[in-house]
Amino acid sequence: MYIMTSFKKYIVAVLIAVLVLAVLIIAIVNMPVKREVNTQVAQQPAYWVAPSLYLDNELKGEERRQVIYGEELIMHTARYFGPKGIVAHTTNGMNCQNCHLDAGTLPWGNNYGAISSTYPRFRDRSGSMETISKRVSDCFERSMNGTAPDTNGKEMKAIIAYMQWLGKHVPKDSIPVGSGITQLPFLNRAASPENGAIVYDNKCKSCHGANGEGLMQPDGIAYSYPPLWGEHSYNTGAGLYRLSRFAGYVKDNMPFKEATHQSPALTDEEAWDVAAFVNSQPRPVMTQNKADWPDIAKKPIDHPFGPFADGFSEQQHKFGPFQPIADARKKR
Ligand code: HEC
Ligand code: HEC
Repeated sequence: MYIMTSFKKYIVAVLIAVLVLAVLIIAIVNMPVKREVNTQVAQQPAYWVAPSLYLDNELKGEERRQVIYGEELIMHTARYFGPKGIVAHTTNGMNCQNCHLDAGTLPWGNNYGAISSTYPRFRDRSGSMETISKRVSDCFERSMNGTAPDTNGKEMKAIIAYMQWLGKHVPKDSIPVGSGITQLPFLNRAASPENGAIVYDNKCKSCHGANGEGLMQPDGIAYSYPPLWGEHSYNTGAGLYRLSRFAGYVKDNMPFKEATHQSPALTDEEAWDVAAFVNSQPRPVMTQNKADWPDIAKKPIDHPFGPFADGFSEQQHKFGPFQPIADARKKR
């Protein structure tokens, strides 16, 4: 009874073989289905991905040369327009890419994914319809504390061509996920320059310098680490001078190559506080922005210059707490 006859062993062996075969067949039948699902996921990342010059063989001839020159100008702006620029000496020596990472293609890195789809558009700062060239000029005058190149010149045309090519697959009027700068939740207190100084010492100073001066490359043409304040930094009319823009940019991107949107290195509090610290340091003052915000009620909550339509002080508009201002605006 305890010993199987060879016939019984034979039956068991056949049964096991059939079972293994069945499992194999089910696995094989299911495999292609699983693969299909995987490729679908891979083709649709949750955020905007820029087109690739290597893969785009529709882009040819003069048009291609223009887009490549535009990309070059974004990455190496200082070579062309910095204090030692070969086209003109009209900027502070920063590169557009210092603030628009990976030539304006990095998700959550203040990228250009929404430019071609949303311009021309009405902007409250100027109170007018703005073209891409007007918006690019703004960054030349404010973030680069300089003067803008000629609207019809070769350089401006190349920058626009590059931005339009970047957004070639983005449907009109849509804003892709991951473009621009993240809006962090407001703190329930004012941002603190004192706390921010500690964050700066621990997490920023090693690259951006004890006096926010950055570090020039040995050739003296462009920065290895761009300045955060002082005479070569962005001016008081720039986007980063608003705490929310600075905090959102830094939370997702700094320290450089360490932080990402998915895995930031700072807490929200640290990001707001270091923004308050850096934007309390001396920097160039923008003088020619008298015409900004023709409708003062449209000033962003964290626009640090009065007059304001809402009765809150300049101090509170600069450092917060911002929630009470947001609530008061909702009631209006
Ligand atoms: C010091 C940082 C800094 C530098 C340098 C800089 N920018 Fe900007 N740029 C910003 C910020 C901040 C914004 C506003 C982003 C926001 O509000 O979401 C912006 C916005 C823009 C926009 C509009 C984005 C949109 O989606 O509406 C364009 C276009 C632009 N920059 C082009 C340029 C170009 C071209 C250069 C180089 C000539 C440049 N920027 C240099 C910080 C900078
Ligand atoms: C490891 C070096 C490193 C550290 C640490 C670092 N940064 Fe940066 N930062 C960079 C580099 C490099 C760039 C320019 C990126 C580029 O051009 O691709 C940059 C760009 C910036 C910019 C935009 C350009 C400008 O100069 O205005 C800001 C703002 C900034 N960093 C803030 C910070 C803050 C705040 C911290 C600390 C929380 C920090 N960074 C830590 C290397 C660093």
